Amino acid sequence: MTQERYARIAGWGKYVPENVLTNDDLAKSVDTSDEWITTRTGIKERRIRGENDTNSSMAVAASEPALEMAGLKATDLDLIIVATSSPDYLLPPVSSQVQDILGAKCGAFQLGAGCSGWVYALAVATQFIKSGAYNNILVVGSEIISFALDYTDRTTCVLFGDAAAAVVLTPSEEPTGVLSFELGSDGSGAEALIVPGAGSSKPLNQDVLDNRENFIRMDGKAVFRFAARTVASSLKRTIDQAGLLPDDIDLFIPHQANARIVEAGARFLRQPAEKFYLNIHKYGNTSTASVPLAFVEAMEEGRLKEGDKVAMIAFGAGLSWATVVAQVGVGDISSAHSLFSYAVKRARNRVVDGAQMAMLPLYTLFRRNKKK
Ligand code: UT7
Repeated sequence: MTQERYARIAGWGKYVPENVLTNDDLAKSVDTSDEWITTRTGIKERRIRGENDTNSSMAVAASEPALEMAGLKATDLDLIIVATSSPDYLLPPVSSQVQDILGAKCGAFQLGAGCSGWVYALAVATQFIKSGAYNNILVVGSEIISFALDYTDRTTCVLFGDAAAAVVLTPSEEPTGVLSFELGSDGSGAEALIVPGAGSSKPLNQDVLDNRENFIRMDGKAVFRFAARTVASSLKRTIDQAGLLPDDIDLFIPHQANARIVEAGARFLRQPAEKFYLNIHKYGNTSTASVPLAFVEAMEEGRLKEGDKVAMIAFGAGLSWATVVAQVGVGDISSAHSLFSYAVKRARNRVVDGAQMAMLPLYTLFRRNKKK
């Protein structure tokens, strides 16, 4: 019988640009305020790329400490995946630049799935290791999303920031790493978060520039509704698939798009808000770098330790989403309950979930009236 393989998260690293752009800074150039941004999103400040920062340089700066922690040289890598929506160039893929700068001798590809990209990449990389095809894989999320922001549009420019983060996966025979995942897409919502011009369907020309179609446009409310619906439901399915219960998750790492989306997710999962990691106040939404950056900081702060179970979820343009349940280091992956108590608690959760869904219209009406 062949031994089952797992993909251990063996190293991690981050890079955040030095330039800090605060809410008050933004309020000097657009009609907004620290109060509005803080209460509506949870963001206080974000980082913006410096003169010498490129997507590839940031990806490399995040990858080097990850490789060092994993005890690997770049030449030990079998594959590099860089998730991004803001590569240095339309061509070549930034992954090849990262491979070259690091001095790696392996395949490399760029993965685009909006803000969900890095979680997609983590699930993909895990399959290469589980199948035995590859051993050591670098998974990076790097984003200079500020290049696509219209700094005259207060509905988008206050939300995003630049950052990069990376992990290195290595094989393990002990249960560890990604235990279950869900990859989702609903392309019918594409228009809700889009850069309408400067792609192949509408190549860059004077019209595109005049209409500012080379920048991100977002129907914030539509994305908010999609995210609020998706976070709890996808987490529930993915946790269930891992044979666990929400109570078994030590830390949730949600996409750092809006603290209110996270609060709604926690409420629907019936989990305490403190179990949801947030660093949105420092960085805003760093797109595909958001979840890995939060993961790295949670590790640095000791919020996650050997054997802990973590559920990570990202969502964004596509519309897309991706969720993983993973274990940090090795440890017992079975749920903390006996088979009987697991079955009882799972059945009870299903009943309460059903009741919650049935009550949702009433609950929404109640909150709307309360707001008024
Ligand atoms: O990773 C990508 C995923 N993206 C997201 O997850 C974004 C999801 N959406 C959101 O987070 C929220 O919808 C936003 C933060 C974008 C907006 O919050 P909201 O509570 O949905 O506000 P709203 O769009 O309903 O706007 C309310 C008001 C509007 O004014 P009126 O029409 O009521 O007069 C907006 O024009 O707030 C106004 N507004 C602002 N005011 C001050 C919108 N942006 C700003 C701003 N400063 N920056």
